[in-house]
Amino acid sequence: MVREKINIGTLELKSRIVMPPMATGLSTEDGTVTDALLDFYSVRAENPNISMIITEHSYITMQGKARTGQMSIASDGDIEGLSRLTECIHKYGIKAVAQLNHAGSAAFSKVTGMEIVSASPVILPTSPMMGDGTVPKTLSKDEIKGIAEAFAFAASRAKKAGYDGVEIHSAHAYLLNQFYSPLSNYREDEYGGSLENRLRIHKEIIEAVRAEVGTDYLIALRLGGSDYMRGGSTIEDAVCAARLLESYGIDMLDLSGGMCRYTRKDHSEPGYFQDMSYAVRKAVEIPVMLTGGIKTIAEADKLLEDHAADLIGVGRELLKNAAWETE
Ligand SMILES: Cc1cc2nc3c(=O)[nH]c(=O)nc-3n(C[C@H](O)[C@H](O)[C@H](O)COP(=O)(O)O)c2cc1C
Repeated sequence: MVREKINIGTLELKSRIVMPPMATGLSTEDGTVTDALLDFYSVRAENPNISMIITEHSYITMQGKARTGQMSIASDGDIEGLSRLTECIHKYGIKAVAQLNHAGSAAFSKVTGMEIVSASPVILPTSPMMGDGTVPKTLSKDEIKGIAEAFAFAASRAKKAGYDGVEIHSAHAYLLNQFYSPLSNYREDEYGGSLENRLRIHKEIIEAVRAEVGTDYLIALRLGGSDYMRGGSTIEDAVCAARLLESYGIDMLDLSGGMCRYTRKDHSEPGYFQDMSYAVRKAVEIPVMLTGGIKTIAEADKLLEDHAADLIGVGRELLKNAAWETE
């Protein structure tokens, strides 16, 4: 199963194993790609089990920068370094996707030098706490439009740098997840309340990105589909959200956790978000990726055979061992 080809959008992947985004902290203080970062990706791109690498979350504007050492895609000056990165990945015949992120209230003003912003003036319920703990300023409608534009400009830079697609980050308690989760969105305007309203910013971003990159370019979205917390987003929300996001024009859905981030309390089994991915996969036509706790090819095969997902992300195993399952 893992070695079966699959088409996502206009891309053909040679296998079902994807390296999901993992922040290395190896960029310079101003977010420029370094040789150490290129080495990190080169050795992993060489792993013949992988068909695609989604590179670590890159900030689309300074206000959305999560931490020092994070990669930038916020300015045209970043294109040169990012081109070196996509060359490293393409050398081994695999696809490269750029993850685009705005940290929202998970940012630190001492890093960005700017005000902390979010959907609502709420401290995140994550544990440990993310960001510097200040109550964020509520984004105005004009500022939301500006963020959609910034995602589109970042996507255009990714395309110029040779990436095969982009992934919009809406998981792990970052800005778009802050809009999606009822635990962090108390807005009373058209960006809050119903699920459709909580996904309005996503719709505007997807439309802006699509207008910038064209129809023959992969747009994936990483959805923190369920918070797995009392009062938070649920698997039912994830199913409805997946249908809406598909109708907004994404080509692939990458599922992970919301306010629980990328792990799940009291769960360590392979594919610990599979209850969500099973339900979502049944509801949409586009390929669904499942990540979390998968350590071997055999485990990935089993999840694919069980129709839990179309693609499997393997993160920490590849972080520990670039030659994962080749020896
Ligand atoms: C060090 C580290 C950095 C991560 N950085 C990101 C990131 O930049 N963007 C993202 O969406 N997920 C990030 N993740 C989550 C991974 O993509 C993945 O979902 C998680 O590690 C669970 O999968 P695994 O059990 O195969 O490791 C990170 C995980 C780790 C361990």
